[in-house]
Amino acid sequence: MMAFQSASTQAAPVFERPILWSPPTRAIAPIALEEKSRQLRERLLAIAKQHQRSRLASSLSAEDMVITDVILRDVQTTQQDICTHIDIFTLETGRLPTETLALLDQIQTRYGSGLAVYTPDQQAVQAYIEQNGLNGFYESLKARKQCCDIRKVAPLAAALADADAWITGQRREQSVTRSALDLHERDTARGISKYNPLFDWSEQDVWAYIERYSVPVNALHYQGYPSIGCDPCTKAVRAGEDPRAGRWWWENQDSRECGLHVHN
Ligand code: ADX
Ligand code: SF4
Repeated sequence: MMAFQSASTQAAPVFERPILWSPPTRAIAPIALEEKSRQLRERLLAIAKQHQRSRLASSLSAEDMVITDVILRDVQTTQQDICTHIDIFTLETGRLPTETLALLDQIQTRYGSGLAVYTPDQQAVQAYIEQNGLNGFYESLKARKQCCDIRKVAPLAAALADADAWITGQRREQSVTRSALDLHERDTARGISKYNPLFDWSEQDVWAYIERYSVPVNALHYQGYPSIGCDPCTKAVRAGEDPRAGRWWWENQDSRECGLHVHN
């Protein structure tokens, strides 16, 4: 006679939920954070003084929100307007997650001023889709870089067309491709200055600042996303994983840059 196990006695398959990355919570000493914040503001003031048309390129990342907060809160609280010299723009690729787009409105509400939004050339986007398909970037590195060129790099060129300096939220710790970053570099292709005022900040410093000043951030950070780009090219990462492991996750680690930062 064949023995049947009743459904109720069968062991249910166990699916372990991975523990996802989450923003670090370990506090840093308030005095150390104050010093970091003061130094960041000094760095931005020095850039604003030296350049007439400096621009912060913001992907609305946690890092960019820290810099944005210093620039826009300064205007609100001290009236000592570093904002007049540091405009902020974002490149809206057309493939950003809704959570990223929602942050644009939150910034407007919080600081009473918005970001300039640059979008890609629609004809170039259409031609890419006809040739490669909407998500053709999964097929090859070449197709991926071509998409980034159209949706990010070309709009960046437009955003910086008349700038004499630009600012990014890059940090050394973020990736092997960024380990040699400095505060100031020369963007030789454009013949202008480029600054990375958070080059020496840790992830801990960034999140301590965000908590201290209640800076609005992308809701995806609380769903396992340390680094956020376009929706189809970004996924959540596990705790302990490389923070950029979710960016273009199907590619080798050393190719995971979109072309905005050519020196990298
Ligand atoms: S990327 O090269 O891999 O896309 P990442 O997302 O780490 O870059 O962002 C690094 C810096 O590049 C940001 O702090 C920001 O200065 C700039 N940046 C990246 N994406 C954008 C975007 N969509 N709009 C404006 N700036 C961006
Ligand atoms: Fe295209 Fe992905 Fe690059 Fe966005 S990140 S521009 S969708 S390849």
